[in-house]
Amino acid sequence: MVERMFVDTHAHLQWSSFDGDREQALARAAQKGVTRIINVGIDVNGSRKCVELAGKHRGLYVAVGMHPHDASKLDAKTLEVFRKLAEDPKVVAIGEIGLDFYRNLSPRKAQKQAFQAQLQMAQELDLPVVIHDRDAHSDILQTLTMFKGKVGGVMHCFSGNNEYAAKCVDLGFLVSFAGTVTYPNARELHEVARWIDLKSMLLETDCPWLAPQTMRGKRNEPSFVPMIAQRIAELKGLSVEEVATATSANAERIFGLC
Ligand code: NI
Repeated sequence: MVERMFVDTHAHLQWSSFDGDREQALARAAQKGVTRIINVGIDVNGSRKCVELAGKHRGLYVAVGMHPHDASKLDAKTLEVFRKLAEDPKVVAIGEIGLDFYRNLSPRKAQKQAFQAQLQMAQELDLPVVIHDRDAHSDILQTLTMFKGKVGGVMHCFSGNNEYAAKCVDLGFLVSFAGTVTYPNARELHEVARWIDLKSMLLETDCPWLAPQTMRGKRNEPSFVPMIAQRIAELKGLSVEEVATATSANAERIFGLC
């Protein structure tokens, strides 16, 4: 009985690369026990599409928000659209939001403003947030500290060391592991996976990107979540079932999944 075994806490099934086989991808995921998936928006149209998809599939949930890449497009009107979308019962988080100081596709100032505005919205709506953090650890910590005790959530596709992970946990965040933990040279991430308490861990694919090692270069999809769980189980010296049970319970708790 593998029903309700894994939760893919970060997918982008709205993406066009799933247009040809979205239903089949969901069926493959269910076969592998990945029965619940959080589809994460990165802009207005994508967030709307995620809500539509979730209306058709019981196991699909949604995060709505503006990715830091498009931060300069966030204004009062788009915030209002996200607020309206968040009224849908399948919307369980605001995301993905944050800072990307690696690609800098929006100016840093605009990224910071959009990040804070969406944290404020999450606080008002009493929803957790899904954080995108690329090369921006100290600014992320500084901003999340302003919302400590008011907004919690998930550090999506965690990158960083044990010390950074501990700070995130202290701020009320869970640490989510993607296919990157299966990469042989990701030693720092292996250390975090070994060290961090199972109670603070989540699993995600970030599909269609970041396929696990054995699928590297291919399109990623939710059915690959067990490969990530397998690697974490090896690193922690636990069974895959233990990792699956704990991470699913964590996802249920933070996102209020049923
Ligand atoms: Ni993502």
